[in-house]
Amino acid sequence: MRLAVIPGDGIGPEVVAEGLKVLGEVAHDVETTHYDLGAARWQRTGELLPDTVLDELRQHDAILLGAIGDPSVPAGILERGLLLKLRFELDHHVNLRPAKLYDGVTSPLANPGPIDMLCIREGTEGPYTGNGGVLRRDTPHEVATEVSINTAFGAERVVRYAFERAVARPRKHLTLVHKTNVLTFAGSLWSRTVEEVATEFPEVTVAYQHVDAASMFFVTDPGRYDVIVTDNLFGDIVTDIAAAVTGGIGLAASGNLDASGTNPSMFEPVHGSAPDIAGQGKADPTATVLSVGLLLDHLGRTEQARKVNAAVAFDLSTRDAAQPIRTSDVGDRLAALASG
Ligand code: IPM
Ligand code: MN
Repeated sequence: MRLAVIPGDGIGPEVVAEGLKVLGEVAHDVETTHYDLGAARWQRTGELLPDTVLDELRQHDAILLGAIGDPSVPAGILERGLLLKLRFELDHHVNLRPAKLYDGVTSPLANPGPIDMLCIREGTEGPYTGNGGVLRRDTPHEVATEVSINTAFGAERVVRYAFERAVARPRKHLTLVHKTNVLTFAGSLWSRTVEEVATEFPEVTVAYQHVDAASMFFVTDPGRYDVIVTDNLFGDIVTDIAAAVTGGIGLAASGNLDASGTNPSMFEPVHGSAPDIAGQGKADPTATVLSVGLLLDHLGRTEQARKVNAAVAFDLSTRDAAQPIRTSDVGDRLAALASG
């Protein structure tokens, strides 16, 4: 396995080190190349994602990314110039974000019940494309637009992926989340796409919810969900809610997939660089380790993925909530469990 590693900023390098530790226990053929990208490189050289680096990244089987972002960099520069550029250039049209409430994990909900959902967020379209502009800037008549791009091609491929995942799960249930009552143009495209693809998956039951109602049900009745498919921005928002109700972003994993297999997919914890706790060895690496599980699964290494996920499940079910997290201790424990 040729693995590109982008540790990034803040706690990124700390959690990535633990992810690699666990990966090394289950996969013995990993060749890693580390790439120095993120705030420090930008401060030093002004570079975000040089084309030469992008070309090299393409030569790998997968990418593991820690976190990008630093308070010293103005908002938007690293996001658009690095993280979103990676997702767009590598055509990561499926942003896969499972949210499962593991045994032993405390949910902020009083009666969460079982939660096991797979959120599938579109990754290359919506309002994220940078299709907007500003007129009369810094005047009282400033006008700013941020146009949401939705293509038939883009909706179809992510909806199809969502159905494929849904049909392989026990409940075989898929919910489209959108805002079709207001965003009637894009909403109609998404609804029709789901209706059309659904005819190929008669075993899958389909539901629809507006994003505002879904946000409420994520909190009041998350157990109703199985697979969710939604656009880029709605998916960004609801997956933070999904993470919150299943134990927080310390546990939330994600995969940015080019489901066609043309480009390497990229796996990253949903959390950010957490500069407030960086360098203190107290970030929970579990989200990164679970992202490694998604990586293995994506590469068809089902048994290796199972070992990683089982290690996390066991660790979470036996954790002493009174003990503060030590990043490397969690990594050591997970590595030992995964190797056994
Ligand atoms: C995420 C993040 C990113 C997003 C930001 C940092 C660009 O919030 O991965 O969810 O909006 O996709
Ligand atoms: Mn987000």
